[in-house]
Amino acid sequence: MGREFLHVFTDWASEYDSSIQGHDKEYAEVFRNYPTILKIIADKAGNSVIEFGSGTGNLTKELILKNKQVYPVEPSPEMREIANNKPELQHITFIDGDMEHFPKPNFIIDTIVSTFVFHHLNGDEKQRVIQQYYDLLPPGGKIIFGDTMFLSEASHFKKINTALEENKLNLAKDLQREYYPLIPDIETYFTNAGFTTRFIQMNSYVWIVEAQK
Ligand SMILES: C[S@@+](CC[C@H](N)C(=O)[O-])C[C@H]1O[C@@H](n2cnc3c(N)ncnc32)[C@H](O)[C@@H]1O
Repeated sequence: MGREFLHVFTDWASEYDSSIQGHDKEYAEVFRNYPTILKIIADKAGNSVIEFGSGTGNLTKELILKNKQVYPVEPSPEMREIANNKPELQHITFIDGDMEHFPKPNFIIDTIVSTFVFHHLNGDEKQRVIQQYYDLLPPGGKIIFGDTMFLSEASHFKKINTALEENKLNLAKDLQREYYPLIPDIETYFTNAGFTTRFIQMNSYVWIVEAQK
């Protein structure tokens, strides 16, 4: 489990960077402010960072630009290959792993980041990895995730209905198929594990959650 949506990226990898630039009209709002989302997360990150679901390497690039030590973990070989072919990322090793199962870095990390990834884990998996990361981070360490999440069941259903009405059928299917969390649940998961949280809204789907140990 956890890797159950990997097949989506086998097909999407070659078009992914075009989608995040707004060329896929169904996902234009989901990816609105994408560069700002990456920049805010990179600004908030400490100096040694694990990045999960690094995809085509866009957040990796932003972190490297800010001179952070980055350990990017990505399960899709297609996404890893696109990232590694980017001139700025040719010297980076993209690790084969996922949010739950990954080889540990051989240096102390102070931050764990991801963008548009956490919704691939179901509720149990989310809670398990948050506890695992708590054990990995030093006091003061942070988890910073940017992803689609909803304030309530009602706002999630409204987004699905709007997508159906607007004939955005891929988006509607995605919103029903994957594990998009509710903000109150996410807050509970982090608090139960021992973190304090802050949430920042980035568009009508995506929020950044910053959790500190
Ligand atoms: C929507 S893309 C986001 C890529 C990149 N983080 C970004 O912001 O552009 C989701 C990425 O998460 C990866 N992924 C899927 N399941 C995962 C898991 N369980 N753990 C880590 N990464 C996963 C996919 O292969 C894909 O590269």
